[in-house]
Amino acid sequence: MLQTYETPSVSASLPPPTDACASTDACAEGILDAIGKTPLIRLRHYLDHPQVDLLVKLEAANPGGSAKDRPARQMIEQALQRGRIDQSSTIVESSSGNMGIGLAQVCRYHGLRFHCVVDPNAQAQNVAIMRALGAEIDRVDQPVNGDFLTARLQRVQHLLDALPGAYWPNQYANKANPRSHFLGTIQEIDAALDGQIDYLFVATSSTGTARGCRDYLRRRGRHTRVVAVDAVGSVLFGGTAGRRFIPGLGAGRVPHLARNQHFDQVCRVSDLDCVVGCRRAAQREAVLVGGSAGGVLETIRRQQDELVGKTCVAILHDSGTRYLETVFDDQWVQQRLDCSAAELQRRVAEPTGSPSFAEDNQ
Ligand SMILES: Cc1ncc(COP(=O)(O)O)c(C=O)c1O
Repeated sequence: MLQTYETPSVSASLPPPTDACASTDACAEGILDAIGKTPLIRLRHYLDHPQVDLLVKLEAANPGGSAKDRPARQMIEQALQRGRIDQSSTIVESSSGNMGIGLAQVCRYHGLRFHCVVDPNAQAQNVAIMRALGAEIDRVDQPVNGDFLTARLQRVQHLLDALPGAYWPNQYANKANPRSHFLGTIQEIDAALDGQIDYLFVATSSTGTARGCRDYLRRRGRHTRVVAVDAVGSVLFGGTAGRRFIPGLGAGRVPHLARNQHFDQVCRVSDLDCVVGCRRAAQREAVLVGGSAGGVLETIRRQQDELVGKTCVAILHDSGTRYLETVFDDQWVQQRLDCSAAELQRRVAEPTGSPSFAEDNQ
């Protein structure tokens, strides 16, 4: 039978848009109340140096499966609170992955219509999840000026003009995005470690996560060094655009939120680094993480000699279950990244101090 989505809205009884983890009870008040309070896990086997204290914030434990649940909720609830949208509004966003799923979840919960603009590179699984949550999928088939991002943004503009009451949260310019991490992610980490964090490693795309965390740490006067992890071929922090296969990491143009943003350090990882990190986390720690998380972990492994005696926290944005046909598929790695299964395993197992590890990572 065809599923209908006529659930009444609960937004009339909305609490003010504050921390994602408003409830302290054992029982969450609805699915959105289960966003946040993700586990912070010490990894003892990923690095070779036992003296580096490595903890990871597992954002895959959010109900929508990623860190993007937090800004999705914040953007929509803030817009509801401020009267920018109401029950007659239609939310329009361009996303092929985590933000689309996060928004589909929040919109469904609040009884709002959601149009997600995707391109042919969107993973079928992500599109299926969005559909299951009631999103209407709007697929662009042709690039504009050789670029699908431009094509998607043009379609967003078309929908904003055509649909009455249409609203674009625009995660790449919306300050509610970093705010959700300021109020949630980093406060959870800071409280768990009593502010004793030497390094925070964060993958970047909109820079919402890194900005929100950095701003909170600065506001509290913490000494933490915030390391932004970007992709080779991304232009977020300069350089020229190149081919990238790992979704969610880096950007082909500098988004509004990322302009004039400075972090204590910027590191770049290749697609293959991301794959190696994911495979090593699975093999050594039995933790299945997504591509950007693998890149963050490899950034730390590369620097571990300088991190001895330090407490390092890595935010891991999503789960490896969304990458089974890419990062965790040997054939995909061979075809896209020109790396054989044997070579990949050599890199995964390689001790950090070996000469070829140093060479590979120059
Ligand atoms: C898997 C993954 N990692 C990292 C990021 C980067 O987060 P932010 O956009 O907050 O910079 C994203 C964002 O889409 C993501 O989906």
